[in-house]
Amino acid sequence: METRTGIDTVSAEQAHHEPSEAYRSKSRVSSKADYERLYKESIEQPDSFWKREASQLTFRKPWTVTLEQNGPFAKWFTDAELNVTESCLDRHLGTDTENKTAIIWEGEGGANKTLTYRELHEQVTLFAAVLRDQGVTTGDRVAIYMGMVPEVVVAMLACARIGAPHSVIFGGFAADSLRGRINDCGAKVVLTQDAAPRRGKPVKLKQTVDEALQDAPSVEKVVVLQHYGPESECTLLEGRDVDWATAVEAADAKNGAAAVVGAEHPLFILYTSGSTGKPKGVLHTSAGYLVGAHVSTKYVFDIQEDDVYWCTADVGWITGHSYLVYGPLSNGMTCLMYEGAPNHPDWGRFWEIIDKHEVTILYTAPTAIRAFIRAGDEWVNKHDLSSLRLLGTVGEPINPEAWNWYYDKIGKKRCPIVDTWWQTETGSIMMTTLPGACAAKPGSTGLPFFGVAPDVVRSDGTSVADREGGLFILRRPWPSILRTVWGDDERYVRQYFTDVPGNVYVTGDGAHRDADGYFQVIGRIDDVLNVSGHRIGTAEVESSLVGHEAVAEAAAVGRPDDLKGQALVVFATLKPGFAKDDALKATLKAHVGKDIGKFAAPDEIRFADALPKTRSGKIMRRLLKDVAAGRDITGDTSTLEDASVIEQLRHG
Ligand code: PRX
Repeated sequence: METRTGIDTVSAEQAHHEPSEAYRSKSRVSSKADYERLYKESIEQPDSFWKREASQLTFRKPWTVTLEQNGPFAKWFTDAELNVTESCLDRHLGTDTENKTAIIWEGEGGANKTLTYRELHEQVTLFAAVLRDQGVTTGDRVAIYMGMVPEVVVAMLACARIGAPHSVIFGGFAADSLRGRINDCGAKVVLTQDAAPRRGKPVKLKQTVDEALQDAPSVEKVVVLQHYGPESECTLLEGRDVDWATAVEAADAKNGAAAVVGAEHPLFILYTSGSTGKPKGVLHTSAGYLVGAHVSTKYVFDIQEDDVYWCTADVGWITGHSYLVYGPLSNGMTCLMYEGAPNHPDWGRFWEIIDKHEVTILYTAPTAIRAFIRAGDEWVNKHDLSSLRLLGTVGEPINPEAWNWYYDKIGKKRCPIVDTWWQTETGSIMMTTLPGACAAKPGSTGLPFFGVAPDVVRSDGTSVADREGGLFILRRPWPSILRTVWGDDERYVRQYFTDVPGNVYVTGDGAHRDADGYFQVIGRIDDVLNVSGHRIGTAEVESSLVGHEAVAEAAAVGRPDDLKGQALVVFATLKPGFAKDDALKATLKAHVGKDIGKFAAPDEIRFADALPKTRSGKIMRRLLKDVAAGRDITGDTSTLEDASVIEQLRHG
């Protein structure tokens, strides 16, 4: 293996955006020195740090042991006892938060529903009783295959209430993927809904469940929420399927009491793609995950009592778990939940929602931001965004152009941006700049969150110099680290703890660190190319391209090349008014050559109207690699948003 990975050096220092004095004065952590002091305490005195920071949470039995480490396996707060939902719900009863809105739901068609903390508590308690009525007991797995409706939050918390680990499967997955996940975790019950709307059309979730369950022997019951109506063509199978509302009506809240479990009791399994075809069931447990989600939400979003917080992620992904459900609810926040697509009925939808509900914090993904840039500023300008005070991004590196647009056009240069780096496996945010404490640098995720010990290393484990690219690792466990891959400890160790010596967690990303200690994550290591011996981060090429006025979005991949090892192929979408012609291709190649170096100029550029993305908005790079190489598509394309883009890319 090579000793270095990623970009060799970083040339220009990036711009700094210091928080304003007005912002700082209201912040929880309001100076770099305060951040550093807390960070130091979190590393040097983790016992007292986590005790204090978790003190708002409800434990039936407090812990005396903070961390138990056995090689790559970590346990946190081991002797504590709790039920996670008591921190998210019960602890708010009898306080001012009891009648505060917990969830504001915005339907795709514009309908609204709200639930206070008391109402959410009632619904969760009743649904916990429903689960027990269906034979679910502590330790049984429950699969959840639903859209963005308040009931999905009720479902997750009801599982947690009885100690039944949930596995939420994103509603965009097809039957085969759903079946694979249900069978891998051996789910006893599936919770679903008739259909979810997607741009005005029904996504018939229940029908997909029926198909998946043709070969899923562990499943005994399916509880079905009627949400969409007759167009969903949903039928119930006698003996197996149960109507949600009827079951709730029949349930007795007395059976919904919280099951007290140990700190390391499994809370949920969430499947994520690995470097091989089979998805990994990432296991998170109770106390450590809760503490990680709670404390990071509090500090990273610097929450205030009257916030209306909107995380746009789907509950089917980790961001939806940690920053739509467990983090915000354990902090007593008001969370907005939107059911539909960002461009339905038009590209103004996000901005209309912010205006309507006076959203104060927006947490979204760079891919969405780039799509909005492409759609044009007129959609933004129609709405009043003055309620916003903080912006966040997650999921992929954000290119400085998108960062600047987000900062200027959405935050109106008033709102700090937190670029949060983390993973399904990390459970909570690992890297960012705390908004009132530290300057943000566009394109850089920033500094470690409390308890996190990042480094950039060669594959022999030695640290690289500042601005030198390498493997991004985390040197010590943190409370919400995944505990294992469900049913496969060996894969857990191999995947995360073998590439670099020293029992460190290998993130799979490449990064570099600047002289201020800020980390810039380049992307997955497998997205780092080697062209004629030059290391090129695809994210850097993409960032350069979208810095050109013609390009809306770009994805760079490697294609095997006899001469160069790998050739660099770029797929790009253009902004309105630019012609997809050879002259522009030449201009763009020269542009990248000038920006990064001639070695990084793309060998080939292909234009398309859209890039292939999963329904969660991630560009499907493996698919692009196949297209670039002229191969048949090998990977799973079931999450592709629009299958017709593949043909265009082949000929683009
Ligand atoms: O490559 C990193 C990228 O997303 C990966 C994790 O993906 P997932 O498990 O789906 O979780 C996404 C939501 C937490 C990482 O290995 N990534 C995530 N956030 C960032 C990022 N890359 C750069 N900057 C980020 N802020």
